[in-house]
Parts: sequence; structure tokens; C-alpha cells
Amino acid sequence: MPLDLTNRPRRLRRTPGLRALVRETHLEPSQFIYPLFVCPGEGVRKPIGSMPGVAQMSVDEIVAEVGAATGDGVTSVLLFGLPAHKDERGSSASDPQGPVQQAVRAIRAAHPQTVIVTDVCLCEYTSHGHCGIVTDGIVENDPTVALLVEEALSHAEAGADVVAPSDMMDGRIGAIRDGLDAAGHVDTAIMSYAAKYASAFYGPFREAAESTPAFGDRRSHQMDPANAREALRQVALDIDQGADMVMVKPALPYLDILWRVKDTFGLPTAAYHVSGEYSMVKAAGANGWIDEPRAMMESLISIRRAGADAIITYYARDAARVL
Ligand code: PBG
Repeated sequence: MPLDLTNRPRRLRRTPGLRALVRETHLEPSQFIYPLFVCPGEGVRKPIGSMPGVAQMSVDEIVAEVGAATGDGVTSVLLFGLPAHKDERGSSASDPQGPVQQAVRAIRAAHPQTVIVTDVCLCEYTSHGHCGIVTDGIVENDPTVALLVEEALSHAEAGADVVAPSDMMDGRIGAIRDGLDAAGHVDTAIMSYAAKYASAFYGPFREAAESTPAFGDRRSHQMDPANAREALRQVALDIDQGADMVMVKPALPYLDILWRVKDTFGLPTAAYHVSGEYSMVKAAGANGWIDEPRAMMESLISIRRAGADAIITYYARDAARVL
């Protein structure tokens, strides 16, 4: 005898067609932002050991990679720079001939439709690997903000569509907005790394960006993983100061934050599926412990379901090809 059930949710899971019909969340390659690491030189493609499939690339290779990504349907990129020289103040961050600035111009020329986002921070450019000016072991807020404004301006001048400050200094969004407007870049958008946590999941990135702090950590400016209400306050401050888009970072361990931010503010919201999240799936996949393509797609759909409009992910091209 069949059970006397009025509701049988399995009815709508019976075939691929039925499942597709009632699917609530969808992924599109246009929702991905593909991070790229620009280094000096020509013809350089230097693989990152802890991030299989990711490489530092010189400007010519970056342009080729953007072309290939465009072919896969990925239309947005996020640029990080590896300068030829580092110093205490990260001076090369705002060098018009720096790797990011050159890459922006080259991508703009070769692929005019590409959405170019640039990471604004000093950690890749300082000799000590900290996100700002360090005095007596302390990352100083206000003097750092002045340098971030110069860096963002140089990215806008090169032609970036969106500048993305990842430094977590107080007041940088307002200062960057004022700086951009004063220089006539009123249409350059700001995507703020608003709720950025002091996370162990950034480990592999620091190999890729050569930005491991020489001493100490980033807990005096990045957020405490235990805090959720503080994230809402941080996002509210950045919106007040002119953020056009906000970001939650990392993604999977912080889906609750992502949901609350999207639900509370409704602004275009990005989530950064960070290096450690990527490398864990890669490593388990390489060992045969996990089905990598399925784990990749499940991670990305979960981030969308939790409220992300855009997902920054090293899997952008792989996922676009699956789609
Ligand atoms: C800082 C920055 C970091 C990441 C993006 N921007 C590293 C950090 O804060 O130490 C991490 C991204 C990732 O792990 O994929 N410029």
C-alpha cells in the first residue's frame, strides 16, 4: 500500500527537465569576476604552487588571458599588481607605468567591452607586506588613506571601470570618491571590500601576490570572524561614503553575512570566493577525495543563493565552460 501522502516533493525532482523548471538560482558567466595577477616582463606566465591553474602573468599574457576568458563568456576581471620595486610606502602602487596601470590600458585597447576592476591596496607594493604605512609596528590609517586615493586615481586615469579598495582603512571610500570626483572621474565606480574578515583563507593569495606581511598580521584593520552586526555597520559606512557595490569576503564561511548584507541594503553585492576556498577544492580534487567540478559548481551556486550578484572567483573560466 502507498503511504497516504498529499505532498511528495520528490515529484518535482524526478527528471532533469522538472528540476530545471523549478530551479530557483542561476549562474551566468557574466556574474563572474576573474582575478588576475599582473607581473613585469614579457611572455611571463609563472604558475602559483598553492593555486593550481593560476599564474602571475605579464601584460601581454594578461591580454591573451582576457581574450580567452571573453571567449568563455567571462566579461569582468579584477587586477592585482606585482611591482618591479617595493618600498616602505608602496610608492609604485600609483606609478602610471606600474603593472596594473599598463594592464588596464592594454586590456582596454584590445578588449574595449571588458569590465576592468582594480584592487586598491598597498600590501603588494610595500617592502613589509602591510596594507599601509607602518609606524612603530602600527598600520597608520589616515596617511595610508592619502596613498590609496593616489593609487585609485592612477587606476582610473589608466581607464579602470571600477576601483576596489581592499585595505580596510577607515574613511577610504569617501576619500577615494572625493579624489576621483575632483579629478573628473565621476563615472569611475567603487566596489568596496566592505565586510572583509581577517581570514586564514587568504594564505595561497599571499603567495600569488607576494604580499605576506613580514611581521604581525592584519587583525587591526580586517574584521574579526566572530562578528556579524559589525559587518552591517561597516557596509552602512561604506554606502554612506559612496560605495556603488559592496563585497563580502571570504564567501563560503560567511554566507550568513552575505545574506544579511544583501537583505539589509539591497545594493549590488559581490562575494569573493577566495584563494583558500579555491585551493581546498583543487587539492581535494587532485587527491580524488572530492568531485572537483561538482564541488566548484555547488560552491558558486551557494554563493549566488545567499545573495551575491557577482562572484569573484579563480574558477571563473572553468565554471563558465561548464555552463
Ligand atoms: C589585499 C587582498 C587580499 C586578498 C585580496 N586583496 C589579501 C589580504 O588581505 O591579505 C585575498 C584574496 C584571496 O585570498 O583570494 N590586497
